[in-house]
Amino acid sequence: MVVSIPNLTPVQNASVNTVVERFNVSTDRLKKITEQFVIEMRKGLDHQGATIAMIPSFVSGRCTGEEKGTFMALDLGGTNLRVCQVNLLGGGEHTIRQQKYVVSEELKVGPMRNLCDFIADCVDSFLTENGLGDSNEPIQLGYTFSFPILQTSINRGVLKQWTKGFNCTGAVGKDPTILLQDSFRRKNINVNIAAIVNDTVGTLMAYAYKHPNTTMGVIMGTGFNASYYEDMNNVKKWTGDKNQEMVINMECGAFDCERRVLPMTVYDNKMDRESINVHQQLHEKMVAGMYLGEITRNALLDLVDQQILFGGDSSKELNKNWSFETAYMSTIEVDETSDLSDTGHILESVMNIPSTTLADRQIVKAVCHAVGLRAARIAACHIAGVLTHTNKLGEESIIAIDGSLFEFYPNFEKNMSQALSEIIGEESRSKVKFDLARDGSGLGAAIIAMIASKH
Ligand code: BGC
Repeated sequence: MVVSIPNLTPVQNASVNTVVERFNVSTDRLKKITEQFVIEMRKGLDHQGATIAMIPSFVSGRCTGEEKGTFMALDLGGTNLRVCQVNLLGGGEHTIRQQKYVVSEELKVGPMRNLCDFIADCVDSFLTENGLGDSNEPIQLGYTFSFPILQTSINRGVLKQWTKGFNCTGAVGKDPTILLQDSFRRKNINVNIAAIVNDTVGTLMAYAYKHPNTTMGVIMGTGFNASYYEDMNNVKKWTGDKNQEMVINMECGAFDCERRVLPMTVYDNKMDRESINVHQQLHEKMVAGMYLGEITRNALLDLVDQQILFGGDSSKELNKNWSFETAYMSTIEVDETSDLSDTGHILESVMNIPSTTLADRQIVKAVCHAVGLRAARIAACHIAGVLTHTNKLGEESIIAIDGSLFEFYPNFEKNMSQALSEIIGEESRSKVKFDLARDGSGLGAAIIAMIASKH
């Protein structure tokens, strides 16, 4: 993609192009990333401690859609905490009651005990408001905890590390189920955590409830990760029954923390250095909503410093880390007004740049486009990798995807499909169906709690 902005000198246009070019990912590079991804998947299946953790989820067997019963679910790890009551009706149908609660920035980085007590209080008020929890029998709950948990059973495991801006103390190396169950006990809340569930696994199960042929669950939102069905004969590190299929929580956002193949730019490095998990989750950092705005901000500031953008002057707001949200990029990308007035509004009214020219807005739009396009192209690699590893190239595959980026970012799906076609060929690509599985993880966690409480 070559940018040519009227009103800029050829030298200025060349500088803008140098920045934009850095986000270009060629077909060759996509193929290399995919190849490396398949190698790393294998390592994760073979032994503990690999970069892509490839965690057996203890969810085996496929959904039939005939599962029935009423279960609770919690969903922690995105923007909000969600508490849900799910009624599985069979026939692939369900009803859901849910309430969202904001998790403050303070709770996200404070003691884990405070976070667990907050979650327990939210569950308590949900039960009270909905007239639930009076029976002597404990309510069974599926806990979607969307961070890397090295699971040891369906409701046990330890937190490997925090991601997505969470950094509570007293949690890494501990079991989040035990910590939350303890808060429930202290507060006399009669709830039993029957299952701990990654959001990708919940999304896969939720979509499979209606479409049993679903093969992968993916989150492309604040964070990024995927899960898929694996034949456990292929999992060397697994010491349990091999003759079964199980959902694997890949934790593929951690891919390439060795920085071998991902096309890191100076803007990625700067963002990474300022994040709370330096040199970790590098694949996630190129794809997920939490990071794209910050990468864009770094690239814009480079152009400001070269005196090509905003006459060489930034603002207090634009200078602030993490101030440029990925949601602004979406608005800017869809701005088709002749003077890019929506872009102007974000820059002037939200980011407080005193005034902007049309050329400024065009530059900002070009940079947002480059960062968003790269995210979608890089996101295609893990799908190509899973299809290659599972020998599913050329077969019909339904991939359930949830997350704000996939749902709202302009052309994300189209760009990802295009990149997938470059990697695996258009014929194989045409067999792959991406479906939006909105808010699937609550339903999925309830289904898994049901399966777990039957055992
Ligand atoms: C976490 C994953 C999660 C993903 C999407 C990542 O940061 O490590 O466990 O599935 O975000 O929410």
